[in-house]
Amino acid sequence: MKRIAVLTSGGDCSGMNATLRAVVRAGLASGLEVIGIQKGFQGLIDRLYEPMTTRSVSNILQHGGTFLQSARCKEMRTEAGLHLASENLKGMGVEGLIVIGGEGSLKGGYAIQQQGVPVIGIPASIDNDIPFTDYSLGVDTALNNIIHAVDNLKDTASSHDRTFVVETMGRSCGYLAVASAIASGAEYSLIPEEPYDLDQICKDLRKRFQEGRTNSIIMVAEGAGKAEDIASQIKNRIGFETRVIVLGHYQRGGSPSVFDRLLGARFGQAAVENLIKGNGGTMVCLQGSIMTLTDLATVTSAGIRPINPMLPKLANQLLA
Ligand code: F6P
Repeated sequence: MKRIAVLTSGGDCSGMNATLRAVVRAGLASGLEVIGIQKGFQGLIDRLYEPMTTRSVSNILQHGGTFLQSARCKEMRTEAGLHLASENLKGMGVEGLIVIGGEGSLKGGYAIQQQGVPVIGIPASIDNDIPFTDYSLGVDTALNNIIHAVDNLKDTASSHDRTFVVETMGRSCGYLAVASAIASGAEYSLIPEEPYDLDQICKDLRKRFQEGRTNSIIMVAEGAGKAEDIASQIKNRIGFETRVIVLGHYQRGGSPSVFDRLLGARFGQAAVENLIKGNGGTMVCLQGSIMTLTDLATVTSAGIRPINPMLPKLANQLLA
């Protein structure tokens, strides 16, 4: 193997730059040429690429986002787009591709593998919804962003006897909401994986208020409902003054945490090593503290990563 390529695709997340740096430097150190594809699969279709040197990835690991840029590429879902992307790769003399991205991007990577170019996926999505890996890249930084926001909101909530409803991202996965509720001491977390009873929550809120706990934070995963709706239902049912914060894209950016920098370095190096070993058609996974591989065919057909039931249980137990 002489030449490999790397791209970042789908929603950006913190740690992508650290991962790109690891891929480029591990690749070059192994005697490979490394091509950086810009704007994800769109760049593959439009032939936007540049050869990487060690200097191309200097001074980037501390920054969020992705210096190669990313895109959600609809064309890759068409036969023609997939064919063009694969032919362009082959035309560049690329013998292996590393795809850094979430669920849809890994599907794109698997489709390219089926066109005959070995692909290794690196799970990267703040949602932590990719199966077979305990953590995806960017999750830890996103959680740190969320708890930083909640810590600040708690100051105001306690100063004004207010209830805050805080909406997190996550698509149909509630990991960010429940993990951040535990880590920030929020009172409730509403997630798509578990049914919730708003009537009961309102009764509890009123009782807690009568007992002197006059403020609260309710985390709601975007897949479990809209913070705005939940807040107005609480106001209508028990008359509490409620404020809404939709954290949105604030969660995705910022300087990556140490965990995401180390994870990115490990994922990047493992991806290069396994391409060289001929293990294309897989995704690198962190299981416990071990770096391992799962077939892309298995990853892309397994649906979203289930929530560990211990998490919502723990969140409930810690509610005072
Ligand atoms: O998958 C990452 C994610 O941030 C989701 O949590 C969210 O639903 C979605 O991407 C937002 O997508 P976009 O950046 O295209 O608005």
